[in-house]
Amino acid sequence: MDQMKIQGGRPLRGEIQVGGAKNAALPILVSAIVADGPVTFDRIPDLMDIRTLNKILSNLGMKVDFDRKSNRAVLDPRSINTFEAPYDLVKTMRASVFVLGPLVGRFGKAKVSLPGGCAIGARPINYHLTGLEKLGAKIQLEEGYVIAEAKRLMGNRVAFEYPSVGATENVLMAAVLAKGESILENCAKEPEIVDLARALRAMGAEIAGEGTETIRVQGKDTLSGCRHQVIGDRIEAGTFLAAAFATGGEVKVNGINSEFLEPVLVKFEEAGARIERGADHVSLKSASRPKAVDITTLPHPGFPTDMQAQFMALLCLADGASVVTETVFENRFMHVPELSRLGADITVKGKSAFIKGRSGLKGAPVMATDLRASASLIIAGLAAQGETTVSRIYHLDRGYERMEEKLAQLGASVERVPG
Ligand code: EPZ
Repeated sequence: MDQMKIQGGRPLRGEIQVGGAKNAALPILVSAIVADGPVTFDRIPDLMDIRTLNKILSNLGMKVDFDRKSNRAVLDPRSINTFEAPYDLVKTMRASVFVLGPLVGRFGKAKVSLPGGCAIGARPINYHLTGLEKLGAKIQLEEGYVIAEAKRLMGNRVAFEYPSVGATENVLMAAVLAKGESILENCAKEPEIVDLARALRAMGAEIAGEGTETIRVQGKDTLSGCRHQVIGDRIEAGTFLAAAFATGGEVKVNGINSEFLEPVLVKFEEAGARIERGADHVSLKSASRPKAVDITTLPHPGFPTDMQAQFMALLCLADGASVVTETVFENRFMHVPELSRLGADITVKGKSAFIKGRSGLKGAPVMATDLRASASLIIAGLAAQGETTVSRIYHLDRGYERMEEKLAQLGASVERVPG
């Protein structure tokens, strides 16, 4: 297994370009199922999760051409001939459950393995299933599979118990082909939901209200092929800005609308950084040492849970004590014991982590446990004095494209050591 070897203590300086948003690209690739002709998506990041999803879509019979160099994907759903997503693929990438809604909406049936939990939590899909049942799908659980069937989905009112990103996306992709109007309430409002709605609208879907808590959909009988470019990845952008701040540097991130990151930018400013916002970039200039700030993760437009681990790495160096409270997932503090190996002073009590900032960290071997924990450890290693090796960085490759190249572009001493 590959490792990342980092010589820390060098301020990051310069500019990088972020890729397309992983959490927009995944549902948008799945949305090809509801089109009745070829679709072209640009700015699809070349990530492990994307390659896994492409395998799942090809497994359904869809034609999938993904050019990793140009980040362009061309998909043709007209050759879909099965409606089953098998366990061996779904267990490696839980976003595969997104195929449920579009398959049952387009073909009247879907058989998808229950994804099972993952490192950060049990991650059930009950909100997905109750939403699809509301649209008339008959849902059965059999031998670890979800089987969804419907002659034709019928538009209805769906009120989500919690603003779940995946459930909102799954039900939205089902509603666009249902008969009649659907009103989805208590929806997730993440920018990735807005981007998915734009892609569906490019296919001819009639959607209003995306990005707010109520989305109205007028179902159509068919939807056409389309072209769509995915938005920039706000979490990749936030990760590089946190790395810039943790190393006392100055970085400009291009290809991202600063509005998508506002909940994180205000926290960087509270910690003393100078931020410059733009429609297609964000710049961060570090303060001498970050100030301690408190973070509570919430659904958008709250502080994003996907930036919690990275921001915690920064707070380990803050001048004072901070409290980080994780309200979205039940087990998203696995980076804490690894950060402590670098000298961080963190105590976890229930949903909160209490961090006493130190003036510096010391490099050490550490182990990645999940995608954003790996990013957190890399940020801490970049700031620490001496050498840090991060093992199991296959977690990192799920969500970051060529991270070591981009960090080297900013002056970091980072080397991927094949393991
Ligand atoms: C999406 O996951 C993202 N993944 C996650 O990003 C992100 O952390 C999360 O949204 C929150 O923003 C993708 O978009 C592919 P949820 P999702 O449904 O859809 C519980 C990353 O690092 N829940 O909003 O699974 C769930 O267990 C990944 O890029 C139910 O109980 O998130 C969690 O505690 C990690 N039942 C909470 O809701 C359900 O049916 C939020 O989950 C669905 C969710």
